[in-house]
Amino acid sequence: MVSDLFDRIKSDKGPLGKWADKAEGYYVFPKLEGPISNRMNFNGKPVVTWSINDYLGLANHPEVLKADGEAALEHGMAYPMGARMMSGHTKYHEQLEQECAEFVGKEASYLVNFGYQGMVSAIDALVSKDDIIVYDMDTHACIIDGVRLHAGKRFVYRHNDIESCEKNLKRATKMAEKTGGGILLVSEGVFGMRGEQGRLREIVALKEKYNFRLLVDDAHGFGTLGEGGRGTGYEQGVQDGIDVYFATFAKSMAGIGAFFAGDKDVVQYLQYNMRSQMFAKSLPMPMVKGALKRLDMIRTMPELKDKLWDITNALQSGLRDAGFDLGTTQTCITPVYLKGDIPEAMAMVHDLRENHGVFCSIVVYPVIPRGMIILRLIPTARHTIEDVNETIKAFTAIREKLSNGTYKRIAEAIMTA
Ligand SMILES: Cc1ncc(COP(=O)(O)O)c(C=O)c1O
Repeated sequence: MVSDLFDRIKSDKGPLGKWADKAEGYYVFPKLEGPISNRMNFNGKPVVTWSINDYLGLANHPEVLKADGEAALEHGMAYPMGARMMSGHTKYHEQLEQECAEFVGKEASYLVNFGYQGMVSAIDALVSKDDIIVYDMDTHACIIDGVRLHAGKRFVYRHNDIESCEKNLKRATKMAEKTGGGILLVSEGVFGMRGEQGRLREIVALKEKYNFRLLVDDAHGFGTLGEGGRGTGYEQGVQDGIDVYFATFAKSMAGIGAFFAGDKDVVQYLQYNMRSQMFAKSLPMPMVKGALKRLDMIRTMPELKDKLWDITNALQSGLRDAGFDLGTTQTCITPVYLKGDIPEAMAMVHDLRENHGVFCSIVVYPVIPRGMIILRLIPTARHTIEDVNETIKAFTAIREKLSNGTYKRIAEAIMTA
């Protein structure tokens, strides 16, 4: 008997979807209102906002708004129409590619409309069935999805564990000797959940022993790390060892789009083989001209990155001094590790938002192990020391209530009501 496809969908809503009735509109899909800033409105009240990746505070910068607005007035949102390959190509797309490449010290770069789709397609394009992928266990979903498309072998190594990485490179090398294929190693520059930098220096050093190419997703490193914000490769002094460098415009650039950079022939190969770009509409002009403006500001306004780091250092040292566990972050991403179950975490975050006016993201099982809660803070150049102090005070208050069982009792009362 063939069942109705939707029967399963109705009974099994998925690991996150099953929480929709309880969480939607508040814990997931919340609506932050007002201009993007350090303080926005949530649920009708002002909150200090720590959940937006507008690292350099460009999202609402008057010069950015002006550039975006002028480009929209001149070209509309449609131009250019069609895929780049057919009719959607412009000199501005090329200019942006040239400037992105120069900025990250590579020969060439190619734009993609969304980082996620671009990454899936780039991995798909870079490897054939005889090739082997070696990748970090904690990489972003877009890398996992790219790996899923791969018809050949793949080896995953323990997160940021160089011994495990080398062991898997060894296995991959043995396999590649049989298939005659090559090896693609994929890491992030900055791991977005816990804020650790990928161990790029050590990974690049492994090139002396193993023959592989390195693809780095630097979504969170671009703009925030390295000389002038040139990313994690510069921060660790190994940009030349990164064969394919990726950054999205969705974070420090406060826009939409992304790019891959590397040697000219590799970038040209991606241009002609990334299916999600070949068969999709070109990035609209306001995004392209807007990105040129943002990149120019990153290049010419180092004070934005300095301010980001002043706030980051104040927030992280203040939280650590107050006894909070921030794990092993080495970047602006500030995870605060607490212990509790999901209902407790929900009660705590409700209190934080409603009574302390602090909005941050909450991460629980199944994204992280059961019993662990991460409150994840993203500092930006827009935040102030006042925001930092208010937040540390609020965190101290909620930690006290978490440890004395207040949130457990609230959660139980709600469950039994
Ligand atoms: C590490 C990482 N890679 C890729 C992406 C996807 O980029 P985009 O938002 O441009 O699709 C994200 C999230 O935005 C990310 O955090």
